[in-house]
Amino acid sequence: MNPVSLLAAWVEDAASRDVPKARAMCISTVCEGRPSSRMMLVNVDHTGISFFCDARSRKAAELAGNDFACALAYWPTLARQVRVEGRVKVADRKTAERDFAGKTAAKRAAIVASRQSAPMGPFRSFDQKVSAMLAAEDQDEARFSPDHWVGYVIRPVRLEFFVGKPDRLNRRLRMDLQPNGLWRTERLYP
Ligand SMILES: Cc1cc2nc3c(=O)[nH]c(=O)nc-3n(C[C@H](O)[C@H](O)[C@H](O)COP(=O)(O)O)c2cc1C
Repeated sequence: MNPVSLLAAWVEDAASRDVPKARAMCISTVCEGRPSSRMMLVNVDHTGISFFCDARSRKAAELAGNDFACALAYWPTLARQVRVEGRVKVADRKTAERDFAGKTAAKRAAIVASRQSAPMGPFRSFDQKVSAMLAAEDQDEARFSPDHWVGYVIRPVRLEFFVGKPDRLNRRLRMDLQPNGLWRTERLYP
């Protein structure tokens, strides 16, 4: 099985068994050799691992300087972990617009009113801005995806599947994408 399909199957499995935040992964980026991580909701399909955020956020700035990212998923009740490494591409505009359109009005307003990762003044001012936007009859401002709402897709070149077992007899499989497009699989010591 293609490892990205296997990852998608593990996400679906975790979601179907109600593992909390089954579709969230820790996404790490690097700036000048200094890594930073944050949890993100992700979609996994044949194109890779996609997530959506503000193009002016810290992660976006870091990806602009170094397009290599690492995603980590962990589903505690299944004792499963997956690490994914790859280059990140910006998703096309339509994909970001579709994601934005699928959000609730409250979330859309918060996205429009926010400038993710920038220092802010009193929280109340932001809160009021969001409420005013929601109260506006036509909600025009938050109806269309703002330019700063972007999608990123990690194109995996290496995945590592981990299954926790008692007494550190954990199973680890690493899959590397070869230049010929095939995946090489190696078992790793726990
Ligand atoms: C479970 C979980 C899911 C999250 N999903 C998203 C998301 O899909 N998009 C997003 O912009 N931030 C999301 N966040 C917030 C991010 O972790 C982070 O605080 C934010 O994106 C700013 O990150 P940055 O300053 O490193 O760019 C999520 C946080 C948690 C705890």
